[in-house]
Amino acid sequence: EARPGPKSGSGPMGAGLGLPLGDAAVPTVCAGTLNGLSVTGDAQHQYQTLHKMYNNCEVVLGNLEIVLIDHTQDLSFLQTIREVTGYILIAMNVFSALPLRNLRVIRGTQFYEEQFALFVLLNYNPNSTHALQQLGLNQLTEILAGGVYIEKNAQLCHVDTVQWEDILRDPQHRSIVGDNGKACPPCHESCGGHCWGPGPGDCQKLTKTICAPQCNGRCFGRAPNECCHEECAGGCTGPLQTHCFACRHFNDSGSCVPLCPQPLIYNKLTFQLEPNPDTKYQYGGICVRSCPHNFVVDQSSCVRACPNDKMEVEKNGLKMCEPCSGLCPKGTGRGGGFGGAVGPNGVNIDTFINCTKILGNLDFLITGLEGDPWRNISALDPEKLNVFRTVREITGYLNIQSWPKHMNNFSIFSNLVTIGGRSLYNRGFSLLIMKNENVTSLGLRSLREVSAGRVYITENRRLCYLHTVQWAALSRRRADLDIRNNKPRSKCRDRRGVCVPSCRFTQG
Ligand SMILES: *[C@@H]1O[C@H](CO)[C@@H](O)[C@H](O)[C@H]1NC(C)=O
Ligand SMILES: *[C@@H]1O[C@H](CO)[C@@H](O)[C@H](O)[C@H]1NC(C)=O
Ligand SMILES: *[C@@H]1O[C@H](CO)[C@@H](O)[C@H](O)[C@H]1NC(C)=O
Ligand SMILES: *[C@@H]1O[C@H](CO)[C@@H](O)[C@H](O)[C@H]1NC(C)=O
Ligand SMILES: *[C@@H]1O[C@H](CO)[C@@H](O)[C@H](O)[C@H]1NC(C)=O
Ligand SMILES: *[C@@H]1O[C@H](CO)[C@@H](O)[C@H](O)[C@H]1NC(C)=O
Repeated sequence: EARPGPKSGSGPMGAGLGLPLGDAAVPTVCAGTLNGLSVTGDAQHQYQTLHKMYNNCEVVLGNLEIVLIDHTQDLSFLQTIREVTGYILIAMNVFSALPLRNLRVIRGTQFYEEQFALFVLLNYNPNSTHALQQLGLNQLTEILAGGVYIEKNAQLCHVDTVQWEDILRDPQHRSIVGDNGKACPPCHESCGGHCWGPGPGDCQKLTKTICAPQCNGRCFGRAPNECCHEECAGGCTGPLQTHCFACRHFNDSGSCVPLCPQPLIYNKLTFQLEPNPDTKYQYGGICVRSCPHNFVVDQSSCVRACPNDKMEVEKNGLKMCEPCSGLCPKGTGRGGGFGGAVGPNGVNIDTFINCTKILGNLDFLITGLEGDPWRNISALDPEKLNVFRTVREITGYLNIQSWPKHMNNFSIFSNLVTIGGRSLYNRGFSLLIMKNENVTSLGLRSLREVSAGRVYITENRRLCYLHTVQWAALSRRRADLDIRNNKPRSKCRDRRGVCVPSCRFTQG
């Protein structure tokens, strides 16, 4: 699928960081991506971003996309991944094996090409001998939604022996497996004809098609009393909801449940709903005592932004969504939605008037500033950019890849205090400033917090004052910075490119 360009990562956080959520054993989650086949940078850069995103990650909240990785790279860090909530795309790589040895579940909350949760295409290079030979998903026993597509991997073996019906939960979804490796060795004799590789340890673990008819889903043996609990996903080691390989809905401290402990519980003696002291919130497939700090509570879930008919309020230090009585208050505007990259342009600029908070992202792109005749979008009058002077908070990311040539700083954002990073651009960025030729200083003088995500400031040829900013103080964890190829620091100093002595915390 050819997408127009990199899009927002669908995940909430920066690169594979564990979150201190007040629960003893919350798995390490990381954000996925939504780039499809579009790649930025060379193979080495691809590899580095992959490593940054997924090192130590156990649950990918979003899609796992592995594209254009060559055979020399060590991908063993992928071994920690147990679950992917979106889809998995493996395309145009030439490594020989995929080390997703511990992957148990693909949830398929998003599909690739409209119907696939696992998509494996063209993993060989006709000019070299390197190619994908083994999928190695030995633990994969469940794809909750979506189908499978595995085509044109010239040396990939054994995928046609895998019994995909055992893995796919929904029989409506298809598995399309063809035109892969020829002349493959058979499965080991102990595998009963279904395997991921030639060894005795590569047999496919069947947990559905072998079950007794009494089982409503999966089982751990063929007998009628060997059914898994219905909240299990992928199989189990015993009949209880604490015996599941993975959870179909939510994991509440190791027990699979249909719902996390709700905020209100019914008191049978008083006939009333009462606050539940053990409330937990849904966060991906996990129940947590509190949402990550850049998330908002909406009823019993952690969300990145309140829905349209609600507004964000803070109560006892907890950010929550509450229904608006009448109209939602003015002062909030919608940026490009999470996932889209339609930036401010000549058509929509007036919707930002009087906004103090942007719910979503701001993408300044050439198609917005100069107009896009293909989509009937007129150019943006640069004077109108002054509407952003009232903005104090952006809940998603700020992405500036184009700026009016006669403006040499971003002082229209001089009142911007917080960048939330609840959704991230491309490979995890919450502040990205790139290739703005005439910009000489940032001018973001109120910026105090970048709550999540990475900072990327590159190839702004005239940009100075970057080294005077205390980037570390802006982010809660050690700032993940990529600041390079701007105006060389030495040349900045020559030409007054340092701050005046009075500014302790300035950005020029
Ligand atoms: C294979 O090599 C040919 C000639 O060197 C080149 O044109 C082609 O792009 C290469 N294909 C790939 C997939 O690298
Ligand atoms: C549930 O989460 C715990 C960590 O909180 C983890 O140890 C356990 O393996 C998970 N269980 C399932 C079935 O996913
Ligand atoms: C913006 O706010 C000003 C001052 O409160 C008000 O006069 C003006 O009408 C508002 N504009 C819009 C478009 O809401
Ligand atoms: C383009 O937009 C203008 C006004 O913004 C409208 O009058 C015109 O019909 C549009 N053209 C197309 C092809 O949508
Ligand atoms: C901005 O940069 C362009 C080159 O990219 C240059 O031609 C132009 O004169 C500059 N404009 C101003 C106002 O500095
Ligand atoms: C920032 O840009 C504005 C307008 O483009 C200009 O008036 C102002 O002098 C600039 N500030 C600095 C410090 O360069």
